Amino acid sequence: MPAFEVLIDRARILRRIGELARAIRARHADPSELCVVAVMDGARVFCRQLVPMLDPALPVHEIRAKSYVGTQSSGNVTISGGETLRVADREVLIVEDIVDTGRTVARLREQFLAQGARGVQVVTLLSKPSRREVAVDLAFVGFEIEDRFVIGFGMDYEGRYRELPEVVVYDPARV
Ligand code: IMP
Repeated sequence: MPAFEVLIDRARILRRIGELARAIRARHADPSELCVVAVMDGARVFCRQLVPMLDPALPVHEIRAKSYVGTQSSGNVTISGGETLRVADREVLIVEDIVDTGRTVARLREQFLAQGARGVQVVTLLSKPSRREVAVDLAFVGFEIEDRFVIGFGMDYEGRYRELPEVVVYDPARV
């Protein structure tokens, strides 16, 4: 097996993001009311495509979460950057690149609800259901994938490969 293997090509990703935007608009008649929170850095590329299809004027709030070291989840999620974010009485839409154990979105949802958010929904480009350790409700999922480590379209291996235009399975042992 090669070190890099395209899993989802760019045309399919972009088509699916269009469908996700339509599904979000069907559920939220006025998307401009949403408080959009992108989990950085991984969700930046996804968000850049998705948000203009909801409402080009919609602000995107950035929050940082880190749980992966290399190709492994550390089990600990570190969250930073949301100190000035005001979510009280707002519908929050968390934008994630990939949901794996579920810990990151579970932690964020808990935090936003504790801060008085009216509701918290998650849109994620990818989900690895077989890896789930914490039950999470994902309102909008682009693609469910098997337990493979992926890079590209915003996702990284130790800070690299985020700019690859498609979702690629990566095995660092084969490079
Ligand atoms: P969770 O908290 O275990 O659900 O982890 C979610 C985060 O882990 C994502 O936002 C990514 O940053 C990272 N992650 C999980 N799987 C992968 C992967 O296959 N490639 C790159 N990053 C990943």
